[in-house]
Amino acid sequence: MKLFTILRYQRAIEDICNLNWSGLTQAELTAVAWAYYYFSVQFRENLELARDLNPHDEKLLELYDGECDTANLSPFPGVALRGEKMNHDEFMRRVLVLSNIEPRVQRIVERLGAAYLAQIRCLDAETRAISIASYEDGGLERVFRAILQAEDWDHPALLAFRHFLSEHIRFDSDAEIGHGALSRHMTPDDRICPLWEAFRDILVGAAPSLLH
Ligand SMILES: [Fe+2]
Ligand SMILES: [Fe+2]
Repeated sequence: MKLFTILRYQRAIEDICNLNWSGLTQAELTAVAWAYYYFSVQFRENLELARDLNPHDEKLLELYDGECDTANLSPFPGVALRGEKMNHDEFMRRVLVLSNIEPRVQRIVERLGAAYLAQIRCLDAETRAISIASYEDGGLERVFRAILQAEDWDHPALLAFRHFLSEHIRFDSDAEIGHGALSRHMTPDDRICPLWEAFRDILVGAAPSLLH
């Protein structure tokens, strides 16, 4: 009989996917985009750490080029000009500028985001580096497919967020040159649990009805 263990962080991914994405209002989905911005900042920092720890790793360098200083999300109206290069967290920052978040909710998510980033930045570099494989090799693809179950994307900022999500599903999943294939040689383990749990918590903190 073949036995395999489900790592605890995979449960956290499962929990995120099982949230009530299809019940989100447009305002709540906007708050989720704001929360996701903070995730995208730590994602880029983790990838920089992975690259710095493995400076001769060609696959990681290629992955870095697909996430940073790249035009692979360009153009998008109001966010990126044709051929314009930027980091993906910069794309998300511009999405937020377009959004019409309520000031009260904005203050809440900004406070959550600052605490979230402070928490992630306390983790050691290797843990942050190996999180990249869990994000790129299927974890984020599952989360993005779950978020895409939300129904009301009828706002320029949300259309840009949807573009970000659906393009990332494409980037990550190609069997040979996808971001999953470029990162899975770094093996994630349960040291990365706090990263996934903090991601779940900031999403739920931004849009509490996800728990309904
Ligand atoms: Fe990205
Ligand atoms: Fe990616």
